[in-house]
Amino acid sequence: MKKHGSILIVEDARESLTLLTELLSAEGYAVRSAGSGDLALASAAANLPDLILLDIRMPGMDGFEALRRLHADDATRDIPVVILGAATGTAERVEVLKLGAVDFVSKPFQKEELLSRIRTRMELSRSRLKLREQAAELARVNAELMNNIAKLEQSGEALRESEAFILAVMDNLPIGIAVNSVDPGVSFSYMNDNFPRCYRTTRSALADPNGFWDAAYEDPEFREVMKKRVVDDCASGDPARMRWTGVPITRKGEETTFVSAMNTPIPGKPLMISTVWDVTEHMRAEEERRKLDRKVQHAQRLESLGMLAGGIAHDFNNILMAVLGHAELAMVKLSPMSPARNALAEIITAARNAADLCRQMLTYSGRTSSTLEKIGLRELVEEMAHLLKTAISKKALLNLNLGRDLLPIRGDPSQIRQILMNLIINASEAIGDRSGVITVAVGATRCDRDYLESTELGDAIPPGLYMHLEVADTGCGMDARTKARVFEPFFSTKFTGRGLGLAAVMGIVRAHKGALKVYSEPGKGTTFKILFPALTEGQEVARSPASSSLADWRGKGTILLVDDEESLIALGGRMLEHLGFTVLTAADGLQAVKLYRERGKEIDLVLMDLTMPHMDGGEAFGELRQVNPDVRVILSSGYSRDDVAGRFAGKNLAGVLQKPYTLAKLTEALSAVMPRAER
Ligand SMILES: Nc1ncnc2c1ncn2[C@@H]1O[C@H](COP(=O)(O)OP(=O)(O)OP(=O)(O)O)[C@@H](O)[C@H]1O
Ligand SMILES: [Mg+2]
Repeated sequence: MKKHGSILIVEDARESLTLLTELLSAEGYAVRSAGSGDLALASAAANLPDLILLDIRMPGMDGFEALRRLHADDATRDIPVVILGAATGTAERVEVLKLGAVDFVSKPFQKEELLSRIRTRMELSRSRLKLREQAAELARVNAELMNNIAKLEQSGEALRESEAFILAVMDNLPIGIAVNSVDPGVSFSYMNDNFPRCYRTTRSALADPNGFWDAAYEDPEFREVMKKRVVDDCASGDPARMRWTGVPITRKGEETTFVSAMNTPIPGKPLMISTVWDVTEHMRAEEERRKLDRKVQHAQRLESLGMLAGGIAHDFNNILMAVLGHAELAMVKLSPMSPARNALAEIITAARNAADLCRQMLTYSGRTSSTLEKIGLRELVEEMAHLLKTAISKKALLNLNLGRDLLPIRGDPSQIRQILMNLIINASEAIGDRSGVITVAVGATRCDRDYLESTELGDAIPPGLYMHLEVADTGCGMDARTKARVFEPFFSTKFTGRGLGLAAVMGIVRAHKGALKVYSEPGKGTTFKILFPALTEGQEVARSPASSSLADWRGKGTILLVDDEESLIALGGRMLEHLGFTVLTAADGLQAVKLYRERGKEIDLVLMDLTMPHMDGGEAFGELRQVNPDVRVILSSGYSRDDVAGRFAGKNLAGVLQKPYTLAKLTEALSAVMPRAER
């Protein structure tokens, strides 16, 4: 049994060996013995004992030598060796201890001492062995640890590299990304470079948990609206509510930009991924498109209404012309004493009023002729001041605010007077029975493209210096819906209104290449501002010759009158005869050309309507010129005189007569091309 370990006893003396063997065996050690140094080394190498008890004096290889060799051999070096030696040999003791023996027991030995020393040495040896094992284990664990650390360091490096890569990718994304809480302070765990940029702020401004709202939304009111909206939407947890489209980011004195944003909650964490992207370009393009759509629609609406109004007015004009013409003719023929004169005068007045209405409609559709002159707006208003005062309600106070040293404009004075009159009447009607103030102002405005875009008709004219005429009232004002429609012909909110006043204003302004702008607030009042291009030096306009009195002008010769309206043939014929002409008639272009071919020699002038069935005046004019290149033709038309003149420029047209024509206008047109009859 090897309860206490194994001991190799090296001893040449028999009795001593037996004694020791018995003693140690009795103590429970497994005992082996060797009679010499050589045998001891062999035995120890073959089977390592836990301790060697070595006699120093032996024949052959002595204890010293054996000790030396045991120590020289790696396998046996650690076996504790206890020396048995002479009691007197101090030098010997020192020597063996130097050689590596762990203890020395003097001969003859004390049994208890020997056993005690052996026990101690055995225990020490065991402890040492254990320690060594533990040290080895420690070293192994340490090595493993070092290995793991090295591996961790390696993967840490790889991690850092991939993190840097991902961050670089994130910072180069065209959108802003952040990880943050919303509660309702926004604290960020991460944000890429574009995130603060989208909100037009900086990382450091966003870093403060309460900084986001202040940094992103400058306007306090809007900030509160957004904060409530976003916090509520996030709290709802509904993904559909966590998208915000086209949110304006405003900065004082800078252009507004727009962002869209989306939040995605991170499951299991009080955090969300905030994504934000700039949609300014998109929003601007959308707005432009919407604006353009609105403008096109508005323009189309006005244009079709204009065509309608113009069409009606054109036909109506012909009828009126017949009424007016016949009435005037009758007046001329009637004796000054006739009792019918008053009735006739009433007819003429009523027909003139109706013609006035027609004129408004035609003005709106741009189908009237105008006589352009150099006009000073200030002078024009001053001249009309008295008339304006009588036109407005007694309760309304008229204020004039007329700038000095203004540039003139080019325009038709009677049309501009009509603008002023229409605006003043509207202003007075807006004030109604209450008291109020109407202010007429003239001045200069320098208009850039943006300003012109904000006006009616401003799209079509160049930026520059404009003279303005402004009529402001403190009347009832208009809501946005009314304001959007005021220029439509026939749009009126008044019981007796015809809805033509502002339509006519617009037509005149269009013809003058101007623009107009309305400011109005319900209950506060309205201002109409009309802009006319300023006439700078060098752009002078020739004054149209003042029409001299032609009341008693008479001509001679034969005139071919061409019109599809029977009533006008009858009326025109009478007028021409009254003026001393012989009249031939035709009902359309075809008849006219046929008649001219047959009797052209007799015909001194052709007075022909422009709009006719079968062959219109324009075509017939061409045909007549084939027959006689020098044929004299006056075209009559309800369209603008300038338009017609422009269309036939260079074709040797003798004149254009605007319908409805009065006797005076007809006389004026004929007197310009036909010889006067001698009396
Ligand atoms: N100064 C103003 N204040 C408030 N509303 C106005 C003003 N001027 C015009 N309006 C509104 O615009 C509408 C159209 O005006 P517009 O002059 O074209 O027609 P009207 O005055 O109704 O009729 P008409 O001038 O043909 O007799 C008016 O019915 C009114 O609703
Ligand atoms: Mg009006």
